[in-house]
Amino acid sequence: MILPITYEKEPSLHRPSQPVTVITNEILDLIDDMFETMNQSNGIGLAAPQVGKNIRVIIVDILQKKSKPFALINPEIVHAEGEQFYEEGCLSCPGLSGNVKRAAKVTVLGLDESGNDVKIDAEKLLAVVLQHEIDHLDGILFIDRLDEKEKQKIEKQRKLAKM
Ligand code: NI
Repeated sequence: MILPITYEKEPSLHRPSQPVTVITNEILDLIDDMFETMNQSNGIGLAAPQVGKNIRVIIVDILQKKSKPFALINPEIVHAEGEQFYEEGCLSCPGLSGNVKRAAKVTVLGLDESGNDVKIDAEKLLAVVLQHEIDHLDGILFIDRLDEKEKQKIEKQRKLAKM
């Protein structure tokens, strides 16, 4: 089922999400629906608050051969190093994009859909997407992380979008 995506002003995007304590069928159904919703919008990542659920669930599909689509429950960045810049967008902020400074490499722990421990060592785009989606679980959008110059760019994009 395709779910409605929440946009910038929605409170669900600005508050911290709760950890999952039990992986219920409801959560597994939510993950299926999140994949359907993300694929329809050609996204490469989606977090549960973007479909109005404040629980710590993300999905990622960076559309590269080496990296299969996956869901991650209660993801946590346990190591970050270096820096990289990437022009990010977000399904919750249509029409906006900005260059965000992120860690170059991250190690993320979490659970898969069966409740197994997962450890992901990520770099490049995968590291960007993981940091972006985990930010959503803490109520942070990529536009919150922009420097002044990039914020000005966003304001221009907003004006254009209204025309
Ligand atoms: Ni996003």
